[in-house]
Amino acid sequence: MRILLVGGGGREHAIAWKLCQSQHCEALYAAPGNAGIAQLAECVPIAPTAISELVAFAKQNAIDLVVVGPESPLIAGLADAMREAGIRCFGPSRAAAQLEGSKAFAKQLMQQVGAPTAPFAVFDDPETAKAYLRNRYAEHPCVVKADGEALGKGAFVCDTLSDALDAVEFLMVERGLGEAGARVVIEDRLYGREMSLLCIVDGQTALPMPPVRDYKRALDSDRGPNTGGMGCYTPLPDAPPALIEAALHQIVHPVVAAMAQRGTPYHGILYAGLMISNEQPYTLEFNCRFGDPETQVLMPLLESDLVELALASIEGTLHATPMRFSSRAAVCVVLASGGYPGSYRTGLPIEGLSQASQLPDVLIFHAGTRQQEGQIVTAGGRVLNVVGIGDTLADARANAYRAVESIHFEGMHYRTDIALT
Ligand code: AMP
Ligand code: GLY
Repeated sequence: MRILLVGGGGREHAIAWKLCQSQHCEALYAAPGNAGIAQLAECVPIAPTAISELVAFAKQNAIDLVVVGPESPLIAGLADAMREAGIRCFGPSRAAAQLEGSKAFAKQLMQQVGAPTAPFAVFDDPETAKAYLRNRYAEHPCVVKADGEALGKGAFVCDTLSDALDAVEFLMVERGLGEAGARVVIEDRLYGREMSLLCIVDGQTALPMPPVRDYKRALDSDRGPNTGGMGCYTPLPDAPPALIEAALHQIVHPVVAAMAQRGTPYHGILYAGLMISNEQPYTLEFNCRFGDPETQVLMPLLESDLVELALASIEGTLHATPMRFSSRAAVCVVLASGGYPGSYRTGLPIEGLSQASQLPDVLIFHAGTRQQEGQIVTAGGRVLNVVGIGDTLADARANAYRAVESIHFEGMHYRTDIALT
């Protein structure tokens, strides 16, 4: 099979690494890819959201299967466009991707099927939203969320009423995130431990992957600003099988059934962002794609063929397609540019990469890197994902941090507490 992978981050490097191991993979292209993906695939300079260019490329190059990393192209209808062109695409249709594309849609669907989630209300007018907040804060702190696509920047967890009012002003009046903030969802704040539960779905059947814990804050002990993710690990000692069963039974299965019933069946990865509160799962959000950096720990542990799973998700045959994961542990540490998630320099040479990648039970997935004059240099905020594998979480953690120690670039920063807390 000739495969086109859309995207160019650490998630896509991990997917590319796994796709290459499939007996079905004859040729792999990536749009746009990065310096790490370039070692496995032919990279083509097409942006993930350039839908007509991607379709034209896929036709010209006789692509049999398209695998999509980021959400934006899916929300914009890339899977529909590929299907119209007769090309198989692993990922939800535009209508199904609304589960991530509109927070109001997702919350209303959760409410309709009785999936546990925080109480909420939807607003199109800032004054009504503010009046609701003034009333609600008498009892409960809230989270203010832009309804539309906001690249992970649309949720404001507010300690005080004044912060929540500012969030409404920023989103709805100043339009700080553009049209994404024209409508907001306001929900009660939940407390507990977060967990990412990624499932592969074929319209009817949903198979869960091992749950992953993601670290969103920039600094140790969950201090500092929110980022795209500074690391993650799996398995989770605090996610017993009964909890996963409850999440599937109460959240994932009813949502998948409701999407089918609406005539917009869900095919692809359905990522449920959950809060575990009093040992019960509550839905914070749905994403319509693989997580980043969750994928960097899941792909190394996936024993089944990813191409076969992708085809089964498209064709509706997951019930007959086993998905097996190793019982080992994996820990991912993100190496970020100095200053990230604020401004940072790029073009800085990275040293020690080949040494680190030769260590046993270590994989290095590139995020923001590029080739420059024969050298790999930094090209983004999150630069590298260093993954350690081990029989226990402690071993996996030790392997990851051993590799981190041999890598260096100017200003490099990372969290030292991944998989510790
Ligand atoms: P979302 O974009 O909906 O995933 O929200 C981003 C992040 O905000 C989540 O990963 C949580 O850390 C936090 N968050 C979202 N909703 C809530 C909530 N109801 N209570 C507490 N934290 C939340
Ligand atoms: N790790 C968070 C996300 O992929 O949205």
